Amino acid sequence: MAFRRSHQLYGIALLAVIVVPSSQSQDQWTWPEKPKNLQVLNKDWSGSRLSPIMRGFTRSLGVRCTHCHVGEEGKPLTSYDFVSDANPNKDRAREMLRMLGSVNDHLKKIKPSGDKPVNMWCHTCHRGRPRPLTLGEELGEQYRAKGIDAALEHYADLKLRFASRGAYDFGERSLNDLGFELLEKGDAPAAIKIFKLNTDEFPKSANTWDSLAEGYMKAGDIKLATQYYEKVLELDPKSENAKEKLKTLKESSKK
Ligand code: HEC
Ligand code: HEC
Repeated sequence: MAFRRSHQLYGIALLAVIVVPSSQSQDQWTWPEKPKNLQVLNKDWSGSRLSPIMRGFTRSLGVRCTHCHVGEEGKPLTSYDFVSDANPNKDRAREMLRMLGSVNDHLKKIKPSGDKPVNMWCHTCHRGRPRPLTLGEELGEQYRAKGIDAALEHYADLKLRFASRGAYDFGERSLNDLGFELLEKGDAPAAIKIFKLNTDEFPKSANTWDSLAEGYMKAGDIKLATQYYEKVLELDPKSENAKEKLKTLKESSKK
């Protein structure tokens, strides 16, 4: 089976080799012999020395050349203006290069505890994202800009793209902390959606159900708060918090 599979892929790869060059040859782009507008990198470098650096930038940030340069996605590179500084991300990237220079100067002052110094580069912070935010920060930003449902969609998208790349902490703490942040802000319905998502992700954790119950308690929904504190006790029969809350809920439902 595996053999047949790779055979098919080989066929597709061959096809790509045949198809691509003909469309490329009309718009052949090459690295400039002499770059015109280097302000941080070595001015005497030939353009071809920029190739691994620029490709490193795109990979580290998970973007394409247009993220920092003037050009239109899908158009040939010959139509791009790489010299221009009109894209504000280019100057942001320059500032990052300067920052890294100073960070690496500081790093030279310490003796590493491991066998080699750790080489700090764009990837160290960015890990495949244009802006290196924590999961909670990133979802919080979506929530403020577009609301809680957009934040939930964004979560699904990030999990799909980044689950195995180590860029975000997908442990139960991230959503739990965000939920409490929203609860403190007074948006209990949004907090409940986040806590609910966390119980879907970590159904065996008593703590995720405890938070969901607390969300419903804050929202004044005695029935669901009771139901979920009971769930906490199912998973963690020793939970003093759940026992106490259930007692309080029972008293308030009598009133
Ligand atoms: C994260 C931002 C970023 C990305 C992505 C990026 N670049 Fe750059 N690029 C820069 C910066 C910043 C400079 C200028 C560096 C300096 O001032 O020393 C530059 C300079 C250049 C130059 C030299 C232009 C000149 O003549 O002065 C070329 C060519 C270039 N980039 C090509 C590319 C290509 C091709 C890609 C995509 C594979 C790419 N870049 C992706 C930030 C980026
Ligand atoms: C020490 C961590 C760190 C390192 C290392 C780092 N960055 Fe950043 N970078 C950040 C942070 C944080 C932001 C977000 C700033 C903000 O918007 O508040 C950022 C933002 C950016 C942006 C703006 C992106 C956008 O869409 O707003 C660019 C471009 C960028 N970095 C490029 C680079 C490049 C290229 C390198 C390597 C030369 C690099 N960064 C290295 C932390 C880092």
